[in-house]
Amino acid sequence: MLDRIEVVEGDITKQEVDAIVNAANTTLLGGGGVDGAIHRAAGPKLKEECRALGGCDTGEAKITGGHDLPAKHVIHTVGPVWRGGGNDEDNLLAGCYRNGLALAGQHRLRTIAFPSISTGAYGFPVARAARIAVAETVAFLRDHELPESVVFVCFGRDVYDCHRSAVAGIAGS
Ligand code: APR
Repeated sequence: MLDRIEVVEGDITKQEVDAIVNAANTTLLGGGGVDGAIHRAAGPKLKEECRALGGCDTGEAKITGGHDLPAKHVIHTVGPVWRGGGNDEDNLLAGCYRNGLALAGQHRLRTIAFPSISTGAYGFPVARAARIAVAETVAFLRDHELPESVVFVCFGRDVYDCHRSAVAGIAGS
């Protein structure tokens, strides 16, 4: 199972995978952070396609083409804003990973890359988010053949270390 999961440091817009996941907002019309980086690299046609999707609820996921990105598709998901943990943030974040993976499976995609959703502008604690991301991904891959592999693309050493220790935590359990 864990051989289907990889953790790397890098820029998700450079990943040559079937789908990269975008940490978007509910309008799906772009923003800063990884959302801004993905839209810049994909070009203006991505926003045009997103405009037709009519937004996305927190915890849900929608798919578009990759346009000028090396990735074939972008799966847009909206993470929860961290408000201290008492507003169902953990479950909503888990939904981002579960629904993103389910959408990749429905589209018969083999490889998918995730950023660390909600841990930037939305303030979700990184180590807690990484544990949720890895646990949800392992649970999904246990029951599904597709996607075949998942890569967590971490922007910075701290996020990388958190995802690595989350994987180690599962391996050790
Ligand atoms: N590749 C991979 N990860 C990246 C990249 C990149 N090119 N750029 C930023 N990140 C990382 C951040 O360092 C952080 O770890 O993505 C993670 C998520 O941070 P944000 O992009 O701020 O996303 P989030 O916290 O989910 O906030 C979403 O910010 O950009 C707006 O429109 C977006 O309103 C939405 C909100």
